[in-house]
Amino acid sequence: MNYDTRYPSIPDLKARAKRRIPNFAYDYVDGGIDQEHGKRRNRDDWHKVQLTPRYLLDVSTADLTTTIFGQQYAMPFGVPPVGLGNMMWPAAEIALATAAQKNNIPYILSTLSTTRLEEIAKVAPDVCWFQLYVPQDVDVMKDILSRVKQSGYKALVVTLDIPVGAKRNREIKNGLKLPFSMTPSIIWQSMIHPTWALNTLRCGRPDFVNVLQYKKTPNQGLGEFLTSFNMQGVTRERIELIRQLWDGPLVLKGIQYEADMLAAIEMGINGVVISNHGGRQLDAAPSTMQSLTELAKYQSDDMTVMVDSGIRTGMDVVRAKALGAQMAFSGRSFFWGMGALGTRGGEQVMAIFRDEIDRTLKQLGCGAYSALDHSWLAN
Ligand SMILES: Cc1cc2nc3c(=O)[nH]c(=O)nc-3n(C[C@H](O)[C@H](O)[C@H](O)COP(=O)(O)O)c2cc1C
Repeated sequence: MNYDTRYPSIPDLKARAKRRIPNFAYDYVDGGIDQEHGKRRNRDDWHKVQLTPRYLLDVSTADLTTTIFGQQYAMPFGVPPVGLGNMMWPAAEIALATAAQKNNIPYILSTLSTTRLEEIAKVAPDVCWFQLYVPQDVDVMKDILSRVKQSGYKALVVTLDIPVGAKRNREIKNGLKLPFSMTPSIIWQSMIHPTWALNTLRCGRPDFVNVLQYKKTPNQGLGEFLTSFNMQGVTRERIELIRQLWDGPLVLKGIQYEADMLAAIEMGINGVVISNHGGRQLDAAPSTMQSLTELAKYQSDDMTVMVDSGIRTGMDVVRAKALGAQMAFSGRSFFWGMGALGTRGGEQVMAIFRDEIDRTLKQLGCGAYSALDHSWLAN
């Protein structure tokens, strides 16, 4: 094992992260929406996927590579977009992007990241994808797309599943507002987590640096600005416009409904991430294991099906492939890694996933991730 063996799994990293970072940051990452049933369902349903092992085979090596949009990646998982990443651990986004480049896995930068997209492209030139929250203002959208194109991003991922702002009870109770207002609770939380607080002071207060330049008036509060920034429901017409403006691989994130998948295919979209935002948007949404089971049949040379939400082990990545996904993303895992180990946490998470995928493939008697298919499913 080429990683810190004190934390051999994502739950071990999560437990340490909980001790090292303030509650408001921990809850921001861990929380789901409403009663958090959707978040639990995501995890529970991955466990339901059973795989049958095959023996009498040589499994001395296992090939973990996968090819997405004509580019070969070393491993079949990536870092999905997570807004406000540097709040979890200062400079987390640069560290994660650098680790993704080194390990040759995709890194998707959020529109609401706290590092400028131009800086991320410099440290992850071969693996950076950009996630777009679609702005209401078409000129703003065009400007962001031209910055993304100029910086050399490999793919554009348009998120569909936030038609309305989320009501996350933990965030409300913690008084987490943007820009940070220094409530007594937030000050206290920062004081009792001195390493986090000192690093945050050193790196500066996290802010939505990619989009602040589009504020209409300097005095517009950030909350008000962000509410007015996003389209409330991204329309098909807008996706068609994005398709005209972006000639590289275009991905829709948040697809769960068959008619939406068919519309994506009709519009010439190259890939989808089947996602429910990690249970952070609609508590009644089906688990992504269930949605993937229904939609994987649309995987083709022209449509790459990917998945996220509740993926916590390399075995989950393998389960997703047996169901038909070509790539899986795990959001919170990477931020537990950063919270637990600081900037080296991203590499630790990547090493854990690599090891778990390798072992699962060998346990199954499968010499290559690309060879996994429905025939390994036991149920
Ligand atoms: C703290 C947090 C912030 C997120 N921010 C974004 C975002 O800015 N854009 C986006 O498309 N998805 C965002 N997501 C959703 C992730 O991209 C991904 O779908 C989700 O984390 C997958 O679920 P998992 O955390 O259970 O693996 C966020 C998720 C978390 C946990």
